[in-house]
Amino acid sequence: MGAVEIKPGIYWVGAIDWSVRDFHGYVTPNGTSYNNYLVLDKQVTLVDTVKHDFSEYTLENIRGLVDPAKIENVVINHIENDHMSSIDRIMALAPTATIYITARGKKGLDRFFDTSKWQFRIVKTGDTLNTGTKTVTFLETPMLHWPDSMMSYVQEDKLLISQDAFGQHLASSARFDDEYCDQYSVSALEHAVRDYYANILMPFGTLVKAKIAEVRKLGLQIDMIAPDHGIIWRKDPNKILQMYLDMANDKADLRVVIVYDTMWHSTEHMTIPIMEGIKAAGVEVDVIKLRATPMSTAIKRIWESRAMLVGTPTLNNIMFPSIAEFLTHLRGLRPKNRLAGAFGSFGWGGGAVKEAYAEFKKMGLEAVEPGVEVLYRPGPEDEKKCFEFGRQFAERTIEFHKQFNNDQPGKCKP
Ligand code: FEO
Repeated sequence: MGAVEIKPGIYWVGAIDWSVRDFHGYVTPNGTSYNNYLVLDKQVTLVDTVKHDFSEYTLENIRGLVDPAKIENVVINHIENDHMSSIDRIMALAPTATIYITARGKKGLDRFFDTSKWQFRIVKTGDTLNTGTKTVTFLETPMLHWPDSMMSYVQEDKLLISQDAFGQHLASSARFDDEYCDQYSVSALEHAVRDYYANILMPFGTLVKAKIAEVRKLGLQIDMIAPDHGIIWRKDPNKILQMYLDMANDKADLRVVIVYDTMWHSTEHMTIPIMEGIKAAGVEVDVIKLRATPMSTAIKRIWESRAMLVGTPTLNNIMFPSIAEFLTHLRGLRPKNRLAGAFGSFGWGGGAVKEAYAEFKKMGLEAVEPGVEVLYRPGPEDEKKCFEFGRQFAERTIEFHKQFNNDQPGKCKP
């Protein structure tokens, strides 16, 4: 796909990755794109690069507009490999270009490349680059989502190049939100945004809120947001800002997600009366079997719902491996304001349910204790116990949910 002009003199020159299905463990059924942008002004400026395997695509797009040797400035907003790992190809063609990067970004870049012959300008929030007729202002966004991260704002065009923030893993011939929604739907785009946020930005909700407040305080006029993945927001960029605020404020649906795995179907069997108990209390339920579901899908469903129940058999006195892996992954994403509980079957000593509660404690989640444990296979009495556990858990979920601002619970329209 060739370069696309997004603002007068500013072009998308990125690459579309139609086939990636595993993005460092995050399932990407719709592929992704690596977006970077070329400012054709008195000084030719490239903002970000692309994943190294795709370097030839961006070079081809740049060559269609200008000789890459004419690039005078390269802005590196973020040093994760999907955005900066073509920098060596760019610098080989434009060796006198100056790289604009944060101090932490430079430190990281030095670990990946021999940068001794490259020229740098270390920038911080408020610093600017004048390309002739355009002024690029830098805005550091540390831990959104790496320590080095920053955004670039082109004043004259009211364009925010936002790096990973506001992105989505979507491979599409559409470059803009309105084009994508015409081709698919608003809900398809909304789904992609939420999936991306849950799996990448969930730990950083407080920072998201603070950074959006800072942008508003600076009085930046924004009429386009161009992220480094997926489609560009030109129709109404305020909607994606509001959607991020809603997500950062931990809005969630009144729903319980049961995430379980099973050895010989006993823990699986327990999900049925538990689900019926939850439903009897008037709360909707979503049931996810790990090993049959990508972990990133389970993460998103948990993040969208106010409460989760984890079903784990005991194996060798500890949690079932897929559940242990899942809870460790979830802990890293630092979920907040979610209610938790656990259940499972065991053969002789038990121990998995206790371990699950220990994980909830590490995450700082409010838990409904005790959970339910069943010896070998649930019988009629166990089923009653499971039903009652589900019912009481749902009642606690309803009370817990009332603490939050749920005027649009989990329903954030882009
Ligand atoms: Fe798309 Fe943090 O890289």
